[in-house]
Formats: sequence, C-alpha cells, structure tokens
Amino acid sequence: MSVDRRHRAMGTGARRGRRTGTATATRAGWALALCVLARACARGRAFKGQDFKTCETSSFCARLRDGVARDDDRNHVLGHGVDVRAVVRSKSARVVELDVVNVGAVGEEGDARARVAVEAFGSGAIRVRVDDVQKPRYVPKDVLVREVEFDVSARALLAVTESAGEVMIEARETGARARVRLQPFAVEVFAPGSGSIPSAVFNKRGGFAMELAREESGEWSETFNGHTDTRKGGPTGVAFDVTFPFASDVYGIPERATSLSLKSTRQYESASKGWFKGGGAASESERNESTLGEPYRMYNLDVFEYLDDSPFGLYGSIPMMTAHGISRSSETITSGVYFHNPSEMYVDVNVDGSNGVHTKWMAESGAIDVFILPGTTPGKVLQQYTALTGTTSMPPLFSLGYHQCRWNYRDENDVKEVDKGFDEHDIPYDVLWLDIEHTDGKRYMTWDKAVFPTPQRMIEDLSSRGRKMVTIVDPHVKRDEAYPIYKEAKDKGFYVKKNDGNTDFDGWCWPGSSSYLDVTNPDVREWWAGKFSLNSYEGSTKDLYIWNDMNEPSVFNGPEITMQKDLIHHGGVEHRDVHNAFGMYYHMATAEGLKRRNDGNRPFVLSRAFFAGTQRVGPIWTGDNAADWKHLAVSLPMVLTLGVSGLTFSGADVGGFFGNPDAELMTRWYQVGTYYPFFRGHAHLETKRREPWLFGEENTAIIRDAIRERYALLPYIYTLFEESHRTGAPVMRPLWYEFPADADVLKTQDAFMLGTAMLIRPVLEQGAKSVSVYLPKGIWYEKRSGVRHVGPKSFDVAVSLSDVPVFLRGGTIFVRKDRARRSTTAMRGDPLTVIVALDENGRASGTYYADDGESYEFASKKSAFMRRRLTFSNNEFNVAGAGAEDGNAGDAKSFIDHSLIERVTVHGLSATGDVATCAATRDSFDVVRVGAVANIRRPNLPISRDFTIAVQ
Ligand code: NOJ
Repeated sequence: MSVDRRHRAMGTGARRGRRTGTATATRAGWALALCVLARACARGRAFKGQDFKTCETSSFCARLRDGVARDDDRNHVLGHGVDVRAVVRSKSARVVELDVVNVGAVGEEGDARARVAVEAFGSGAIRVRVDDVQKPRYVPKDVLVREVEFDVSARALLAVTESAGEVMIEARETGARARVRLQPFAVEVFAPGSGSIPSAVFNKRGGFAMELAREESGEWSETFNGHTDTRKGGPTGVAFDVTFPFASDVYGIPERATSLSLKSTRQYESASKGWFKGGGAASESERNESTLGEPYRMYNLDVFEYLDDSPFGLYGSIPMMTAHGISRSSETITSGVYFHNPSEMYVDVNVDGSNGVHTKWMAESGAIDVFILPGTTPGKVLQQYTALTGTTSMPPLFSLGYHQCRWNYRDENDVKEVDKGFDEHDIPYDVLWLDIEHTDGKRYMTWDKAVFPTPQRMIEDLSSRGRKMVTIVDPHVKRDEAYPIYKEAKDKGFYVKKNDGNTDFDGWCWPGSSSYLDVTNPDVREWWAGKFSLNSYEGSTKDLYIWNDMNEPSVFNGPEITMQKDLIHHGGVEHRDVHNAFGMYYHMATAEGLKRRNDGNRPFVLSRAFFAGTQRVGPIWTGDNAADWKHLAVSLPMVLTLGVSGLTFSGADVGGFFGNPDAELMTRWYQVGTYYPFFRGHAHLETKRREPWLFGEENTAIIRDAIRERYALLPYIYTLFEESHRTGAPVMRPLWYEFPADADVLKTQDAFMLGTAMLIRPVLEQGAKSVSVYLPKGIWYEKRSGVRHVGPKSFDVAVSLSDVPVFLRGGTIFVRKDRARRSTTAMRGDPLTVIVALDENGRASGTYYADDGESYEFASKKSAFMRRRLTFSNNEFNVAGAGAEDGNAGDAKSFIDHSLIERVTVHGLSATGDVATCAATRDSFDVVRVGAVANIRRPNLPISRDFTIAVQ
C-alpha cells in the first residue's frame, strides 16, 4: 500500500469506525480499505440521528421542558411547576440580593436554598444570577471579559426603590431599569427611555426551575447508546423563561443549519397549561403554522454529515439570542439575552403573535446566570453583548484573503504545484492548508517525513511569494511514549481524567488511542502555548499558522462522539459543567502560542468548536457541509446567525466538504464565498480534486473574478472588521440588522448586507436564469449596470453564470483596490478606488481604516492606525480625518497609509460637467461617464491628505 493509501485508510477508517462507537482501528481500517477499493461507499451520506440525544433522551430536558416535579422531589426543586417568590436580602449601590423560595413551602426565607443577585453594567446589560446556596454552581472562567469577571466597578451604580411587591432598580449611567416582581418572582427589563412595556421579561411564564444539591447519595446514573453517565451529583438542571413582548422574530443561539429567524419549536398551548400560561392567547391565525417539535440544542458535537435544515446543535454554541419586533406605531425594538453557562442546554421558542416571543432555556447544570440586553437597536444589543464577552479580535490582514485547503495535499510537490497553479491561472490566494495526513501518524506538530521531508523550506518557498501555510493541530494526543508531547503532558498530569479523578482518560480519535489535554487548566494552556515556539515545533516558521479541528472535543468512541460528562477536569470540575467551552479554551491556548511566537503580533487560528467569547480568539468555520445547493443556501443563515451572535469571523467550506460539486455549484459557491468573512475552499479526502482551475475555462474565469472581487473589497472588509472590533457590529449582516423597521426583511436569508454599503443577492439555485430581489427603502445602484432603483421594491434580475446581483446603497462610500495581484502582501501600497453611491439628496459618507495589518500597535498608546472620513455632498468629494464618533483618526506620527486614490466612482451624480478640480492642489481631473456612472479619473491624491474635489 502506498503511503498515501495507507494514510487514507487509517484516517477515514477511524472516522467510519466511530459510526459503531466500538470499532477497533483494525476493523475500521479494513472496512475503509474495502470501501475504497470497491468505491462503494464514496457517498451514501446519512446523518445518524440515533447517535445523538434529543430532549426526550436527555433526562434534564425531559424533566424540565414542561413536566411538573414529582411530590417527593419537592425538597430538591425550586419552581418547576410551582410559583417561586423572592425576598429581598440586601440592597447596595452595586447589587440587589434576594432569596428564592417555593410559594407555600414551609420554612420559607430562613431556609432559602437559592439566592439571586441582580446587577447592571455600564453597557446597559442587566444580570440576573441565581445560585444554589448549599452547593454553589460552577463559575465559567475566561469567558466573560476580565472587567466583567473581576472588576466591581464595571457594574453600574444602582438607584433602588422598594415598594409593595416589587423592587425597582435603575442603572444610573445607562438608564436601563429592572423591575423585580417578588411573587411570583419575575424580572422585567426596560431599555433606557422606553415606556411601560419591557424589552424582555425573565420568568414571565413561571418556567423557573432549579434542581438543588442533594445531601444523600443516590443512584442517578443515565445510559445512552451503551454509555453510562454516573451523574454522582444527582440532577442539577436549571430552567427559566424569557419573554420578549415586542418581538416577532428571534435570532441567534448557533450553531445549527437552519433558518435565520428561528422557527417555533412548540405550538402555543392552552392558556392554563405548562409554561405558556398567562397572557392573552394568540388567535389561531397568529400561532405558528409549523413548529419543529424539538427544542434547539446547544451541545458542541462532531455531527457527521449534518442535515441542511435541522434544529440540531452542531460544533459550537453561543447561548445568545436577539429578539426583534416592530410595534404598531412603527417603533422598532431589539433586545437580547445571553445565558452564561457552558453546560448542555436546550431552548424552546414560541412565536406567539401579538404576545411576543416566549423562550424557555433548560441547562443540565451550572447556575442560572442571565444577562438581559435591553437594546434597543440591533447594534446596541451587540454592543451590550460584546462588552461582556469581547469583540472580534483584529485579524491579520492576510487572513481575509482566500485560503486553499484540502484533506489532503499529498506532499511537498503537490503543495508546489497547487501554489504554482494559482499563479499560472492568475488567481490570488494567501494561504495553503495541510490537513491531518501531513503528520507522522497524527502526532500533531510532526511531519510525515516521507512526503514532507523539508517543511521549513516548503513554507519559506510560499513565504517568498508573500503567502502563508496553515497546518492542523487537534486536541487529542496520540498515546505513544515515544511522542514527546504525549510523554511530557502525561508526566505533568495535564490530561483530562476518568471519573475516578486519577487515571488519564483514553479516547479514540484519528491517531487511535488518545489522551486529551485538559485545557480548562490555565497551566496546561500556558504549556501548550509554548509548544508553538519555533524551536519546539520543528519545521515551523513565523509564516505557519494553525487550524484547531475536532475540539468539541470529538471522541469517536464516546457518547454522542464526545467525552463522557463525568470525566474530571482541573479543580475536580465535571466535564458536563464545561463542555461547551472546552474547544474555546483549546483555541485560546493555540492562539496565545502563535501570538508569542510572532513577537506579540496577531495570531491566526481557525477553530471548529466555539463558545461565547470565541470572537476574541479567532475565526471558526461551519464544519462538514456537503456539496449540494441546499448546503450552499443554508450557509448564509448560518454565517449571518454567527455574526449577530458576536462571532462575525466565519465561513463555510466553499464547494461543500462532502461530495463533488459540479462546475456550476462550485462557481456559485465561490461567488458566495467572496463575501463570507472567512473565505476558504476545502474538500474531503475522498473527493475529486477541485482547485479553482479544474472546472473548465469559462468557470475558471468566473471563479477568478469572484476571488479577485474579494481582494478588491479587502480595504472595505478590513474597515468592517475594525468596526466589529470596536463595536461588535458584524461584517456580513442580515438585512433586518440594517433595516430594522422593514417588516419584509425580518426573515430574509437569501440576501445580506456587507457592512452598510452593499446588498448582495447571490444565486443559490441550480440553473437559475433570474433571481428575485427585494431592496428596502432608499436609493440603490445595481453594481453591474449602474442602474438606479428606488426602494422599497421587488423585482427579478436576469442572471448568467457570471452574475451576482449586488446593489450599492445610496448614502454610502467605501474603498476598493482594483489591481489584480497574487496575494494581500502584493497589494500593499496599491492605489485606491473610492465608490460613492449618492442618496436622494446627493449625499454620501463612509470611512477608510488602515493599519500595519499584523501588530497590535493600533490599540497601543501610539494609536498606530489611520482612519479617514470620506464624504460627498453638493457635488464635492471630501477626505478628512475621522472624528470621535467614527473611532478617531489615529496618530499620523505612528502610522500613515500613503496609498493614492486613483479613481472616484460616483453613482447618482447630478453635476454634468466633465472636469473636477481640487482647490488645495489646483489640479483638475477628467470626469468620464460610463452610462450613469461618473468617474473622476486619476486624482492621484494620497488618502492620508485632507482635500476636496469639486465636480463642475
Ligand atoms: C473534520 C473537519 O471538519 C474537516 O474539515 C477535516 O478535513 C477533517 N476533520 C480531517 O482533519
């Protein structure tokens, strides 16, 4: 067997082996070898639902969803079908504390078993935290930003007034208010300046439940698919509901391949039943016609061949939801909730017509720690959320270019040929990726020397053309005493332990028998970061970046293909308490390692698993999608959902991971990929080769255009990333984010905005000859033709294979770089094209941001960045330093971008002259019209200079 074949058999064999959950390496390897030979199982895809739990088979969800606690459980459960009441314990300027007891319980407050703390934050968020008094719940570490976690002064000062049955809390800085109703216990949160209807209500429907710690030991074990979870601590589930009285739509709680606006999971039940009690029942027609039945799940899992439309939770979780609605008086209200808990959870959603949207959250363990984000705009909700969990870290500029990946590029020669192929076909790209087969037997940070004998030389060769390499490093460590990483971590006691708390856990993954680094331990993270130093990672260079895969973590022979929940982490913490954050800790350690290795410069690490806060660490991708049209289409709501959940740097595998896309699908996928914040082509081991030039000349040309368009947009995309870093706003935005008052876009997921300036309606259907477009209110210009449209407007646009309908929004300005180059490095200093789209008053504005693209100097005292404000009005184009409202101009002594503006393209210009003049330089320039579009040609003025050009 050739080396390549051997590796294929081992790798995929193991993968298939896990389908049974018990297969041995040998069996799995043979199965695959036969499979490969017979070519019989090349496809035959199927999502194996039976591998995974549902609410019904997750005991906490089955108990908490709408059941009522058994009488003999009453001593151990708060709420859960019984009203709870709160009793004020203490009030201070930072926190109001209350006890919670079951209404009618004997003993009452003296014996209260749960305590609530209500706090407010400077960003506007209100926190409601409920903990078990006797056995305080696990507190997730390093998820919230340090100030929120540790700094009392990050809390807003409160004005507290108590009256019969309620406590009113007002955050002095923000004006956000919370009314705590004592019986039944509920918290209504009001946005600053809002009227009497709250943005969100905690426990409006009495869904509160907390299963309390038990003194006595009991037999609590639970078995699924032959795996037993000992659950020594007994039931520790928590539940609560949040109603958004104004909302018609809710978004967020990734990751799943489903609609952007989340569908109801349950039918409205009768006014008296279950957690949907109270409130006016929605009329029959207002209720949802269709509901999913199953609640949305958040439990990071390696879901093999996921479906293209399912509420099923995938590789990552962000328990953050945004609710949005438009009132009868056309007021828009957006609010949100973040449930700070990394254990397994389910969320029911019920869109209840004029009663708003009800949601019910159920987690297996941990505290009820809820941040209510009163909004009231989509941007403010994200600001409030990212003030808690951090904003997108500034990516290195190269990482916004195109990435070429495949499982696997075979050897050094293959790498060379692929790299050459891009140059020969004049297609830019920045990064070439190596998957697991490049290693010596899946021992990460090693090389299969038979096929990669000179890795350093190979990387340096790519670097010589301004490009980078990425290698994969997964969290499972091959149990091999001769593998130094394994041995060292074992000797240090750095692995996750079995439920005895002592023995290293042994799980099955790509290398076979593996140990898993306990990255919840900061010491392990510190050690792991050091492994990326140049002298530790042999063959690496500063141009080698990393891909963390399988970090849910994936364990082929574990329950639901992950770790047992009763495994033990640092500090005796059970895996169930930290599961959803595990992958993020691993991602964090890797990113820290690269940052150190590169002298404090920005790291780039792609991760598959994620949690709230991952945006501070690096990008994620949407995992193993398939080469079909439905997966192409669902990639949009997936990436948009991530964006409104604070994690904007994401993308789907272009082309689809499983299967072989035909030329049309491949081409259309590249046209979408142009706009994914993270743009990478990737394919499964068993697929046909699919580098961009392998689909015939016509398609190669169109794919080239799509990738070049990405590069041309980089100045704008980079500016948007910086905005996201500063404010939390997503780069790729749902239409409702930009047009919150337009009821017609609240569910739109086949079109999206890139920032504020561009609306893209990609082609997502096979053989499409036209697509239907909806343009919200305002002036729009069709990019291709310059044709002006006045929205709101729906119409069809004819498309050929080379067309992607893109519309420029009147009132905006952005900057492009239109020279075709081979990579981002080669574009440095290239001249700029400014695109101006005028509104109905002939005005437009925008910004341009630049920095060195690799360091953190922009954020240092030096303010080593440059931000320019570009405006157009009265037929005059003006460039000046940005003001405080745009994030300031930066310090010209520390950083200047000297790029020249070589063209200003103006849509909607009223002046008809063919000359433009700059008073400052006394130069004049030609104004050349192409159809309705006016081009001010070759001003060649540096964008760093303040100037005005007037069109005559
Ligand atoms: C699973 C990942 O999702 C996929 O992208 C990768 O190619 C394989 N693991 C092999 O590493």
